[in-house]
Amino acid sequence: MPPAAKSSAPIQRPLWLAVDGWSVQILDQTRLPHVVKTLRLRTVDDAARAIVTMEVRGAPLIGVTAAYGIALAMRRDASDASLAAAYDQLIHTRPTAVNLRWALDQMRSLLQPLPKEKRTSAAYARAAELVEEDVATNRAIGEHGLKIFHDLLARKKSGEPLQVMTHCNAGRIATLDWGTATAPMYLAHAAGLPIHVWVSETRPRNQGAALTAWELGGRGVPHTLVTDSSCGHLIQRGLVDLVIVGADRVTARGDAANKIGTYLKALAARAHRVPFYVAFPGTTIDWTLRDGLAEIPIEQRNARELTHLTGLAGNGRPTEVRLAPEGTPARNDAFDVTPARLITGFITERGVCRASTAGLRRLFAR
Ligand code: MRU
Repeated sequence: MPPAAKSSAPIQRPLWLAVDGWSVQILDQTRLPHVVKTLRLRTVDDAARAIVTMEVRGAPLIGVTAAYGIALAMRRDASDASLAAAYDQLIHTRPTAVNLRWALDQMRSLLQPLPKEKRTSAAYARAAELVEEDVATNRAIGEHGLKIFHDLLARKKSGEPLQVMTHCNAGRIATLDWGTATAPMYLAHAAGLPIHVWVSETRPRNQGAALTAWELGGRGVPHTLVTDSSCGHLIQRGLVDLVIVGADRVTARGDAANKIGTYLKALAARAHRVPFYVAFPGTTIDWTLRDGLAEIPIEQRNARELTHLTGLAGNGRPTEVRLAPEGTPARNDAFDVTPARLITGFITERGVCRASTAGLRRLFAR
């Protein structure tokens, strides 16, 4: 384990280069919202562990962390064997988010042709570029999503807030500075538009309750936490104007994998004709796959995430308690796939498109 450092500084980003100029600091997302703590990554093993344990999480941030993992590996040993080993270690950390593979491929194709002595500086420079590209991408997603918010608000009575529902955390700690699904929310709020966000708790790891509520609260965006199981009911009652979620992998025909429970929201939204949007960067598209249900690998996580709950105890200490009877068999699929036919549209950095091959191709060259 790398040593932990308590930070009192406001956290702007979930990952940044430390003042030593080579190690990488991350916000430990497993401790939020109760403890704001940073960790330092000094080796490729540290980077891989941070992804596996979900100290860093969210598709684009996983990719950026892996890119820095390669840079850390190159700093120790810039040989071909070290590059291959680091790639192999990092690619196996989490299976569903394709941004991981994209970022690793970027790094490998940049570094492989370079002489050894140039690899470390090139790796750090490219990882830093990926950070800045992610920020610009997310801002653009926000601008495109904001137009949708404006259109939907125009259909409401003046002064009534736009009721937005989201799932999990596709926010600024998963994807830099703006988030993807949250980017239009932040821009709308900053522009003084009336919005209110239904934050779905997102069992079993509760990234909605712990992370999205923390993020939106920190920026003053009006929101209410709800159970996952109440979302169909809220949609049915006309209390939701649109659903907007992130994605971990989108296939060439527009099927979208996202945190488990997304599919149920899409079904409810379709049944009640509520628009259902998926917001993601082009790096989340996996052009090699078509049928998301058959082809996207779904991460199976430890059953303990279901059988136990972690929270803040009365004594102010983070505590884990058992929920299910000891020995209860449990299955923990971490993601599901929403078929393209249930998705109203994609919000990307290049604009809004239909959830189809033609829609994606219109915006993204292969
Ligand atoms: O398991 P996680 O917390 O990494 O899953 C996060 C999500 O499913 C997000 O919605 C997705 O990565 C999109 S983040 C922009």
